[in-house]
Amino acid sequence: MGSLQEQVAKLAEKLLASQRTVVLTGAGVSTESGIPDFRSPGGLWSKVDPLYAFSAETFVKRPEVFYQLGLPHLASITSAKPNRAHEVLAALEKTGLVSCVVTQNVDGLHQQAGSSRVLEVHGHLRTATCMECGSKISWDFLLEKVFAGQIPPRCTDCRGIFKPDCVFFGDSMPQDFDEAIKESSASELLVVVGSSLEVAPVNYLPTVAGELVIINLGPTMADHKVSLKVGGKAGQVMDLLWENLMRNGLVS
Ligand code: APR
Repeated sequence: MGSLQEQVAKLAEKLLASQRTVVLTGAGVSTESGIPDFRSPGGLWSKVDPLYAFSAETFVKRPEVFYQLGLPHLASITSAKPNRAHEVLAALEKTGLVSCVVTQNVDGLHQQAGSSRVLEVHGHLRTATCMECGSKISWDFLLEKVFAGQIPPRCTDCRGIFKPDCVFFGDSMPQDFDEAIKESSASELLVVVGSSLEVAPVNYLPTVAGELVIINLGPTMADHKVSLKVGGKAGQVMDLLWENLMRNGLVS
């Protein structure tokens, strides 16, 4: 396995050798921004049952379940700030060493850190859509309605119920997921950062990519297929990677 420095040196080599690198991130890239992940001990799914509070089927029948049990866990996400891992990924895109970031996260931290090509395969929390007429409101306005006691929040035009534009369990996948399949299929190297790869269909992406590298604290569902596994914290690993590339005059 070698020391973290040795693993990072190998990661740098692979990045430099790849003509087209895609990065796939999960909740583990945002835990150092204070957002709990889902499946680590103490993660979100140890506090609320995802298939109940975040399922499309429950939302259609009983939307108040999401607004009472699920939303409170999401409200803290929009005040989080990017961490070193997000910053380095944005810098790597600017140097051309990363062509795009595919993220399962809905926190928008990659864009806040400066990444411009970001595919949000589980949607986002910027807006909510009326399930009847399709009109959209901002996340802040949705929170205003909910905190004023309007549960579920309704559309002033047609009284339809607003649903956040993140992907619930059982929802169909957004257009960005089709794009992510194209990008992963065209990639020489897929670097997964902070994901257990337990959730389909996103965990299909490593199967269509070229070489697979995983940066993750814990075990993942694809560890048996990697050419390199870097077992460390995303912020620390990405910081060491940037230092390595700077030291070798490969980035400025
Ligand atoms: N650095 C590196 N890895 C980390 C860090 C960190 N700072 N913090 C946590 N991890 C690792 C954990 O060990 C875990 O393997 O990140 C992984 C996060 O896995 P999950 O909690 O399963 O999150 P994720 O893979 O993003 O889940 C995918 O599941 O519930 C759905 O829609 C939800 O997008 C989410 C999807």
